[in-house]
Amino acid sequence: MSHVKKIGVLTGGGDAPGLNAVIRAVVKAGCNAGMEVIGLEDSFDGLLDPTRSRRMTPRDVTGILRLGGTVLGTTNRGNPFEYPTDAPEGKSDYSDRCVKTFAEMGLDALVVIGGDGTLAIAHQFYLKGIPVVGVPKTIDNDIWGTTSCFGFDTAVSFASDAIDRLHTTAEAHRRVMVVEVMGRYAGWIALHAGIAGGADVILLPEIPYDLEKVAEFVRVRERLGARFSIVVVAEGARPLGGSVTVQREARPGYVERLGGVGAMVAHQLEEMTGKESRFVVLGHLQRGGAPTPFDRVLATRFGGKAVELLQRGVFGRMVANNPPDIVHIPLLDVVGKTRTVPLDYDLLKTARAIGVSLGD
Ligand code: F6P
Repeated sequence: MSHVKKIGVLTGGGDAPGLNAVIRAVVKAGCNAGMEVIGLEDSFDGLLDPTRSRRMTPRDVTGILRLGGTVLGTTNRGNPFEYPTDAPEGKSDYSDRCVKTFAEMGLDALVVIGGDGTLAIAHQFYLKGIPVVGVPKTIDNDIWGTTSCFGFDTAVSFASDAIDRLHTTAEAHRRVMVVEVMGRYAGWIALHAGIAGGADVILLPEIPYDLEKVAEFVRVRERLGARFSIVVVAEGARPLGGSVTVQREARPGYVERLGGVGAMVAHQLEEMTGKESRFVVLGHLQRGGAPTPFDRVLATRFGGKAVELLQRGVFGRMVANNPPDIVHIPLLDVVGKTRTVPLDYDLLKTARAIGVSLGD
């Protein structure tokens, strides 16, 4: 058993529906277990400046279960080990300052809720002596070691609803409708939303596409009497021998911003097939709104498990979904890895079996 009496909780990286549900579970379970819970604002910034933190009680988290976003705020630019500054290298290492603030605040442990980048920072702090438990978050569903992350189900549900709606115009106008969804390195959203929405073509980062093959697929559909085609493309999809479509190059403190592949695919398909084509980018709409019941439950399970680990004195771990259980694995195992769609995934095989083109 540990003697954890006072814990900090923070959210880092892009927001995902279900973050508030985790915060709520951590605050409620933590307080009910006799802990004091401190909410750190805007990711690790809350450890750089002690005024950016607040005590949280069950009363403070009433009503947040169903809210998207995060009541603690977040950022994907505040890595304390490489904080963007005016220093000649463009960054400074403020990690010691965070460790000092952690001690000055009287914290015994930290719950870090975030994606791969945030969890890697959490692991670095663990190596610096801070007792940490990580909670995986991403709508992309690409964190290694967990079969699912909260936010993914909400994103898929929104994207498949959007595809349903696009069928109307596609059919009425005999068009090709291209839907660009999120998914930097993994095509989970594209594949699941594409299948759920009845897409004809699904393009994923894992399978480089040949647009000539897609165009031929559309032409054949036309010959067979199909009035339209729906193409779902992940933002991180790329053509065979080509590269991802970048909106803005990476710079210190910022990863490259993807986007634009949907427009490109629509434009080229129109040229190649002669069929009027349009595109829609779902973007951050996929990250917004209320989490689905599945995501609320998963987020609550993650939060509850995180507090259980703190009580047991188990640190340096990430909680993970391994149905039917919520388990915990070393943070070290997660760092630097990405859970992409396996090429032998049954849904990929079934997609092909039911006549969906994967662009290859
Ligand atoms: O990792 C989640 C994600 O939604 C990616 O799919 C997307 O590329 C990225 O975040 C966008 O992040 P930002 O909001 O910082 O542009």
